Amino acid sequence: MALKPCCRILFHGRNSAFYGFPSPKCHLPYTNSQSSFRFNYAHYPKLYSNLPRLSGFGCVSDRTRKPFCAPSLNWSQSRVLYRTCNGGVGRDVHVIRRVASDVFNYSTSIETVVNERNFERIYVQGANAEPLVVERFDKDESIGRDEESRAEDDGGNVNKDNSKGLHTAGVLNSVKEESAVEKEAWKLLQNAVVSYCGNPIGTVAANDPADKQPLNYDQVFLRDFVPSALAFLLKGEAEIVRNFLLHTLQLQSWEKTVDCYSPGQGLMPASFKVRSVPLDENKFEEVLDPDFGESAIGRVAPVDSGLWWIILLRAYGKITGDYTLQERVDVQTGIKLILNLCLSDGFDMFPTLLVTDGSCMIDRRMGIHGHPLEIQALFYSALRCSREMLSADEGSKNLVRAINDRLSALSFHVREYYWVDMKKINEIYRYKTEEYSTDATNKFNIYPEQIPHWLVDWIPEKGGYLIGNLQPAHMDFRFFTLGNLWSIVSSLGTPRQNKAVLNLIEDKWDDLMGHMPIKICYPALEYEEWRIITGSDPKNTPWSYHNGGSWPTLLWQFTLACMKMGRPELARKAVDLAEKRLPLDSWPEYYDTRNGKFIGKQARLYQTWSIAGYLTSKMLLDNPEIASLLYWEEDYELLEICVCALRDSGRIKCSRGAAKSQILV
Ligand code: GLC
Repeated sequence: MALKPCCRILFHGRNSAFYGFPSPKCHLPYTNSQSSFRFNYAHYPKLYSNLPRLSGFGCVSDRTRKPFCAPSLNWSQSRVLYRTCNGGVGRDVHVIRRVASDVFNYSTSIETVVNERNFERIYVQGANAEPLVVERFDKDESIGRDEESRAEDDGGNVNKDNSKGLHTAGVLNSVKEESAVEKEAWKLLQNAVVSYCGNPIGTVAANDPADKQPLNYDQVFLRDFVPSALAFLLKGEAEIVRNFLLHTLQLQSWEKTVDCYSPGQGLMPASFKVRSVPLDENKFEEVLDPDFGESAIGRVAPVDSGLWWIILLRAYGKITGDYTLQERVDVQTGIKLILNLCLSDGFDMFPTLLVTDGSCMIDRRMGIHGHPLEIQALFYSALRCSREMLSADEGSKNLVRAINDRLSALSFHVREYYWVDMKKINEIYRYKTEEYSTDATNKFNIYPEQIPHWLVDWIPEKGGYLIGNLQPAHMDFRFFTLGNLWSIVSSLGTPRQNKAVLNLIEDKWDDLMGHMPIKICYPALEYEEWRIITGSDPKNTPWSYHNGGSWPTLLWQFTLACMKMGRPELARKAVDLAEKRLPLDSWPEYYDTRNGKFIGKQARLYQTWSIAGYLTSKMLLDNPEIASLLYWEEDYELLEICVCALRDSGRIKCSRGAAKSQILV
């Protein structure tokens, strides 16, 4: 008889998270008595850090001290076994009960606070072995009841009750006969599906059987899964997306496991792998092993993961009509943790998110540390998504207010200071420097000498774009495609700016599309710049990979942007281009050279998000109504807030009367 794998989650950290929820398809004899044990430890960091040493932990921390690291043989592999199937039952019951009891001995409450505005406090209530329920301080009876009933559907039972509401059939208005290329793409996408305890949970990044060194391309990347998820959702296959959202939620961490340092709670992993771990007596269990950057090349922080997770959660609701998922208490808490992390105060002076290099799709050194556009556009979208999804109650009122404030400040900042077109470049060209005052025109002290030579020739009469990054005395004038496309999709840009970005792409078609859509950024860093900014990265040589390579996956975002702006013909042109080459070239990850002529030097073949990006583009083009669920129009109320805030603070005088003119465009 084939053994069923058991299910758990691996944590490499010293004070790693663990969970007390049953996993799908692993029904244990004690399910009834334990099924109400639905406390998600991942969401209770302080609580967790107060736990005494448990088997598998190499690090102990208490309420007042930072975790210290006790070397252990098992150090990098330290785990908490919180449940197994097939025989481990007795032991696991014991572990769970002991943890539950320890929880109550060592901690009573935690709170999450954003910007000291005390958005919401969450605490844990219960007694030994009693069901644990998440409640709010400002208790509202109906909310409590609601949450309890939602919490019945615990993190492990992700495929059951709530999927009843799924509109799994007939999602597409237009179901056309699939072409041979589409059929092939679907087959490849299905082959890339990863299962966990017998259920689909994501897709591997690449699935090339000939690749003997997959590195981490055999993992499920959160950002890579988004186009796969959309393709599945559009096809009416929602289960995999639901599983993905719930299981990655369980992986959500409050800790970084690099060099004894803990980050803010709410971080989502860059990727995870389903591992098979042998147990005694020829048994094995499946475990989810997340990577928060501690194994990633360059140890990069996956800032975009949580933002994508929120964006996908909204898309799931919109496409399936199943809003019960986003209403669940654990999901609501997950959203809040991500937001808390993004909205917490730091040393930052701008409404944009401050991040390290490589914290997004470009996940290695490329000179995008600071306030890269891609992160800002995803941040803006995630805020808009969250505002829609947060349950409207007293507990989230302050959070929603903070979201609105940030949305208006962020859009003002990006629209005003990231935007370049002929007129703006000419303004910068004539900037005075060293202006000391609150109403300086050249606020960031940009030296006109920074305007690169290529830009002077390149900028078209008609059209413009949002620059890649803005810091004191630094404008990164490179065109970054994902940030610009996602600014269109989310309406981070003004309607006029959004239109102008597409005009620019059309005007610069040969540069940005060439033989294969779409350049990840333009132009490439060359010579000294490449040496200094990338650190002589041999993978990011000029016009390769992140440094001006062409990435087919960006096709779906381009399609969505074009559809929003009423230019589907532009998207079709790009899809046609890609369709001719992708299957012949075995669906590469990226293309090299100035106009995307060659398959990338180190590009993986059968790259899942290249395949899924193509399929999603095709389906979106055929179903404009569904596409319209995935983009946002201008929010005029936000603009009002922005103008009012400027007026109240006496700073209505901005360099281009931006807020007001933003309303007019
Ligand atoms: C590369 C890409 C990154 C992607 C990963 C897996 O590292 O830069 O964006 O998520 O591959 O495909």
